[in-house]
Order: sequence, then structure tokens, then C-alpha cells
Amino acid sequence: MTIDDIKAVGVAGAGSMGAGIAQVAAQAGFQVKVVDVSEAVWGRAEKTIAKSLERMVKKGTFTEEQGKEILGRISFSTDVASLAGVPFIIEAVFEDAGVKKELFGKLDAVCGDDVIYATNTSSLAITEMAALVKRPAKFVGMHFFNPVPMMKLVEVIPALQTEAATTALALEMAKKFGKTPITCKDTPGFVVNRLFVPYILDAVRLLEEGVASAEDIDTAMKLGCGMPMGPLEFQDFAGADIGYHVGNIFYEYMKEARFAPPGLLRNMIKAGYLGRKTGRGFYDYSEEKK
Ligand SMILES: NC(=O)c1ccc[n+]([C@@H]2O[C@H](COP(=O)([O-])OP(=O)(O)OC[C@H]3O[C@@H](n4cnc5c(N)ncnc54)[C@H](O)[C@@H]3O)[C@@H](O)[C@H]2O)c1
Repeated sequence: MTIDDIKAVGVAGAGSMGAGIAQVAAQAGFQVKVVDVSEAVWGRAEKTIAKSLERMVKKGTFTEEQGKEILGRISFSTDVASLAGVPFIIEAVFEDAGVKKELFGKLDAVCGDDVIYATNTSSLAITEMAALVKRPAKFVGMHFFNPVPMMKLVEVIPALQTEAATTALALEMAKKFGKTPITCKDTPGFVVNRLFVPYILDAVRLLEEGVASAEDIDTAMKLGCGMPMGPLEFQDFAGADIGYHVGNIFYEYMKEARFAPPGLLRNMIKAGYLGRKTGRGFYDYSEEKK
């Protein structure tokens, strides 16, 4: 199968990532079939995509007519069987090994022998997931970034079992979506998070050691390195619980101290200071929350 044989793309999960992936696939001219658990979720996804396309029309990226055509290429269902016959399926359901395993079991029951499965997982091992499906040679990681329509990078991660043709097709697919792909081995964090996670954790450690205040650490990285957001602002945005969880996953695998979440992060979780979502993290958002 070559990229030109592929006319339709399947997307499992219509959350923040799935909706974005469906949008870029439709923009690339594919018919897109999206599966999620309820109509309420698709409704939200459809609105998000429509708004994003509207902004692109206003910017002159597409005409209004083209925007409508793109949206018209996306269809939604709650039934995994609606993906039968779709040759390339991208999985973007909850980051939960059990949920993903169940979904791939259902897909295996309805999909043909040539189907390619790509997973957008951020922290689960691609090789372990490939071992769960009927045709591991046709399983690959495609790690997109949030928000998908804006972020140009896709990390393509072959599992140990992935055949070269599958990786090549995933690279082509990312390019068709208007992205710049890179390839990397199946290791925790791939390239971006392997570098980014210890950077964020180190910023928490600097604060813990009293090297500088949260404001000064963030100002330093924004003005000294041109970062759009300081590391502690980012941690508040993502949530202390997420940072702690991801750090632990990496540490379990690598056993390197730089991945171990600092005690301050653990204590913040105990205190309920998770960041923006609870109104307090390294900064106070209580006024904003009101
Ligand atoms: N959010 C990010 O910044 C980001 C970035 C890169 C990769 N990822 C990865 O993308 C995946 C999805 O993340 P997200 O942030 O979009 O999550 P999300 O919670 O926004 O969306 C997940 C969606 O999956 C749906 N879902 C759950 N079980 C399902 C099933 N059995 N069948 C169909 N749909 C099901 C949920 O209803 C939900 O709409 C995760 O693996 C995550 O690690 C996330």
C-alpha cells in the first residue's frame, strides 16, 4: 500500500488530540471517520474543529467554501465497526493502557490485514502496545503536539516489531498532514519529552533549593532563552499531578535521578495545589478562577 492508495483515515478518540488530528487529516483531503464514546463528545469536537477552521478562513488560509468542504469530510460514530475498511487508523483515546488494549481488540475484530494502526500515546511503550495487536508489523507511534492544527512536529516511533514500510507510510502521512516528522526509537518521552520533562523538573528543584523565586526562574527562561512560557508557568498549566505522573513513568524506566519528581511536586499534590485547574500552583489563580 502506498500513500496514494489511502483515501480515508480513521481516528479513535475525539478529545483535544483526536479532534485536531481529524482536522489536519481532512485538510489534507482525506475522508475522516472519527469514533468516540458519545454523541456529546463528537458535538464538542465538531464545534472545536469548526471554530478552528473559521479562524483559518478569516486569516485567508482557506476560502469559506473550502472550510465547509473540510468539515464535510469528517464523520463521527460511536461504533468501532464504522472503521472497518479504513486503511490507516490513528488512536488518540485516553492515556490508559487498559482502554487502549480494549479498543485495539475491537479494531482487530473488524479491520482487514493491511490496516495500519498509529498510536498518539505520550507515555506508553509502543513496542508493548504493538505486542497486543494481531499485526505488530503494521503498528507504529505517531506523536502529535497540542494544538495539532498549529504544531508542526510529529514524532514517528517504530516499535521493535514495526516493518520499514509501515514507518515510511507514517512519515509520508505526517507530511501529507502538513507536518514535519522526525523518527526516533521507542524510549520514554521520545525526543521532545525526554529533553523537556527533566528541564521542567529541574526548574521545580531550583525553586525547592531556594536558588531563585518562581517569578525569577520563569523570567530567566523567557528572557534568557526565548521560551514562550516559563517552566513553572508551564507546570501550572499542565498540572502538578501530570508532571509527577510522567516523571515517575520515566524514572521507573530509566532509573536516572533527573527524571525523579522532586518532593515539592509531591507535596503540592497532597496540598491540592495542582496549578490552574485548582486555582493554585506555583502561582495563585484564585481571582482568575472566580
Ligand atoms: N493532550 C496533549 O497535549 C497530548 C499530546 C500528545 C499526545 N497525547 C496523547 O493523545 C491521547 C489522547 O489525549 P487527549 O489529550 O486528546 O485526551 P482527551 O481526554 O482530551 O481525549 C480522549 C478521548 O478519548 C475518548 N475515548 C475514551 N475511550 C474511548 C474508546 N474506547 N473509544 C473511543 N474513544 C474513546 C474520550 O471520550 C475522549 O474524548 C493520549 O494517548 C495522550 O497521551 C496528548
